[in-house]
Amino acid sequence: MTDFALKIRRFDPESGQPAYWADYDVDLPPERSVLDGILQVKDREDASIAIRCSCRAAICGSCGVKINGQSALACNTRIGEAAERARDGAITVEPMGNMPVLKDLVTDMEAVHWKKIRRVVPWLLPAEDPPEGEEYIVPPESMLDVTQSMACIQCGACVSACLSLEVDPDFIGPAALAKAYRFVGDPRDGETESRLKDLAEDPHGIYDCTHCFACVEVCPKDVAPMNQIMRLRRRATNDFGIKDSNNGYGHEKAFVNILEKWGTLFEAQLLPRSFGDGSLIKGQLRPSGAKQLTESLPTVIAGLRSGKVSPKKALVHPKLPDQKQVRRIIHEIESKDERLELNLYIVGEMGEESE
Ligand code: SF4
Ligand code: SF4
Ligand code: FES
Repeated sequence: MTDFALKIRRFDPESGQPAYWADYDVDLPPERSVLDGILQVKDREDASIAIRCSCRAAICGSCGVKINGQSALACNTRIGEAAERARDGAITVEPMGNMPVLKDLVTDMEAVHWKKIRRVVPWLLPAEDPPEGEEYIVPPESMLDVTQSMACIQCGACVSACLSLEVDPDFIGPAALAKAYRFVGDPRDGETESRLKDLAEDPHGIYDCTHCFACVEVCPKDVAPMNQIMRLRRRATNDFGIKDSNNGYGHEKAFVNILEKWGTLFEAQLLPRSFGDGSLIKGQLRPSGAKQLTESLPTVIAGLRSGKVSPKKALVHPKLPDQKQVRRIIHEIESKDERLELNLYIVGEMGEESE
């Protein structure tokens, strides 16, 4: 047995008092979980601590909290390891972020998480009736492609950690967009294009993600929600050529054109080229591009004043010495008729019968 110090965030809406931190001591073997620690406190000291839990085996997804500031499942986090990462000697446990707190460690999943999941129509919309008396036959590789998003246990840890959601609470968010890919990637679904159009056109949709990787880091099931969002984007732009009013399509083209030309990102040209679907001149001539450029002037002026931007940096960008190689790779990829995307989530060896 080892002694551990737990600092739990307490909040009781009925008390009329603000939230506060309470200190507790537990004794457990270090390989036991933080959830075991909380349950020991409930058992021995204060039964009124509110926490959701059920399976205690990282399956039901109900014990999401923040441990030492990081979103995680309490039952899937060893108390000994959490203590090693704890600042000031005490493991902090608080409710998940980006969701209202109902009591102590219990958040209102319905108000945020489940509402967003419903937003993406999380069920199959088949193109046609199933063949009479038969099952749909789906190619195994298609199912492999969606397996990763199917592994989600709806714990909300990614929602809690998402930096975009912190800034824009209307962002559909990582868990719901990962769920959206589960159906976009399913060959039986008949609404692939309309689903993608909807998610691309929504100002809080697939282009609202800032690639911060937080959802990838915290997900206990390796769903990598950000990767599913990138898949949705690739399908929307590459496969369906959806030109959205959020300019996501143009932004992607601008990135590719800049890399093709210089080999590294030329920040000063990203915005104007994004409004011209990759072309600098078109971007400057389009009314929406001119408007955005005018609106960004105060930021440019602030950058010039602080020294972060210089006229030279804004106008000249060095090419990589082997930039031709970058261009060659881009052309090679773009010349392919079909995009082959490997789901690296699936590991292991092919059995003889499936080779
Ligand atoms: S990568 Fe995107 S979806 Fe994931 S946490 Fe960051 S902003 Fe949110
Ligand atoms: S994607 Fe991962 S972190 Fe997000 S809800 Fe699903 S299992 Fe939890
Ligand atoms: S109690 Fe079920 S996931 Fe933690």
